[in-house]
Amino acid sequence: MWSSFSRWHNSGDKVTGVFARQAIPMIYDFAEGNPFSNSTGNWMAHIQWVAKVVERLTADTSEAKAWQADASTTTHAGNGTVIVTDPPYYDNISYAQLSDFFYVWLRPLLRGIHPDLFSGIVTPKVEEMIAGPRFQDPRQRFEALLSGAMRRMRERCSDEFPSSIFYAYKQQQEEREGRTSTGWETMLNAVVAAGFQIVGTWPMRTELTERSNARGTNTLASSVVLVCRPRAADAPVATSRQFRDELARDLPPALDQLTREGHIAPTDLAQAAIGPGMQVYSRFQRVETLGGQLVTVRNALAAVNQAIADYDQQQEGSLDAPTRFCLAWRQQHGYREGPYGEAEVLSQAKNVAVDDLDAAGLLTAERGLVRLLPLDDYGPDRPRRLGSITAWEGCMRMAWHMLPGEHGGGVQGAAEVVPMLSGAAADAAERLARILYNHDDRAGDSANAYVFNTLVTSWTAIREKAQSLAEAPEQTEMDV
Ligand SMILES: C[S@@+](CC[C@H](N)C(=O)[O-])C[C@H]1O[C@@H](n2cnc3c(N)ncnc32)[C@H](O)[C@@H]1O
Repeated sequence: MWSSFSRWHNSGDKVTGVFARQAIPMIYDFAEGNPFSNSTGNWMAHIQWVAKVVERLTADTSEAKAWQADASTTTHAGNGTVIVTDPPYYDNISYAQLSDFFYVWLRPLLRGIHPDLFSGIVTPKVEEMIAGPRFQDPRQRFEALLSGAMRRMRERCSDEFPSSIFYAYKQQQEEREGRTSTGWETMLNAVVAAGFQIVGTWPMRTELTERSNARGTNTLASSVVLVCRPRAADAPVATSRQFRDELARDLPPALDQLTREGHIAPTDLAQAAIGPGMQVYSRFQRVETLGGQLVTVRNALAAVNQAIADYDQQQEGSLDAPTRFCLAWRQQHGYREGPYGEAEVLSQAKNVAVDDLDAAGLLTAERGLVRLLPLDDYGPDRPRRLGSITAWEGCMRMAWHMLPGEHGGGVQGAAEVVPMLSGAAADAAERLARILYNHDDRAGDSANAYVFNTLVTSWTAIREKAQSLAEAPEQTEMDV
């Protein structure tokens, strides 16, 4: 029952909880299945999930105990405890209010069995560790409560085994523009201030794409696991220069690994990169400016964001010249017309000729106006180009198949584009899809961002399909 709470989200659409003292604006984004049916989500299916885990447990599981306790004050954990925790995600979910929906039905049934858990008329709210709008100073409150829990963890945690903290919080648009993410900042402040050092991070695919609020949107698909150990009492103090240098050294390989090996969804990359970034920051006792001022977690997160932007820029620089032209033009004009003279200047900077781009079918240049061909024009009817196509054309042709609706060919359609690209151009097309996602996401164009996010997350499947088509060719887009 607890896990179903995490599938609820606050939303603008209002369904009001009749049992809650306050109206809760929310919608169901997950239909609970009938436990007595034979369909997905029935009772036996759930039991089988748990059984599979139990079968694979290596530790002695003869006894398990569960308590309900406030993590900020609990004394249940003894010294040397191995801690794995999934703390509340700042203001994303009002767990206690949502729980009341179920609690009022469970209480009459289970009160006799668990009188301690069901003593209240509704679930406890005062200790709840969230930054909900119903609290005064929600941010300070969240940070103070979480800090208390982290300090307690630090006091009791094992020296031998690391502690693991799961966290997921998507930065809001306005946060990305000026400030760094409050949800992340407060959580990391609590972790670092408690004396933990982050020694590893893993993005984990934890959110099902089938859930209804994930369909057609750019919701997070993963959580990040922060692997922490107590920071040594004699950890060094670093200057901000040293911190930035180490960030510049350590972050690009970590981002390469996340994108090239991990194929992390573009929508999750900013969140996933916080881990390796904070790994650098938290290895120091303190980071300070030359004037001795503290470089805060907020400053460090801003430096991580800057390092990601530098990395993106580097990625753009590695693309072929026509692609770099199209990218820059799209940022200036989208798919609208712009003056030919401006295109000429840009093309010289990118070392290409506007007429060649026109001949390659990437843009139209007529009556002194230049217009980039929109995504809709990259369907299978588009004439096949001889020779290796650019990363731009490859990416757009594949993205066309990812457009929502019936017409796109999905993974199969995109896989049929792969043979038109050289190996290097195919890698570049994936990099480009990430870059286009970033541009569209920053511009608030969630529909286009969604298409490029889908393309990247389908990349492994597209490659596999392309491979199987090469081994057993059927009629493909290339033969049409
Ligand atoms: C991100 S959720 C964990 C979800 C869980 N991993 C699952 O899959 O069901 C955070 C949980 O922390 C609980 N919580 C909130 N305040 C707490 C507190 N002061 N002490 C202990 N738990 C708290 C919430 O009720 C919620 O169940």
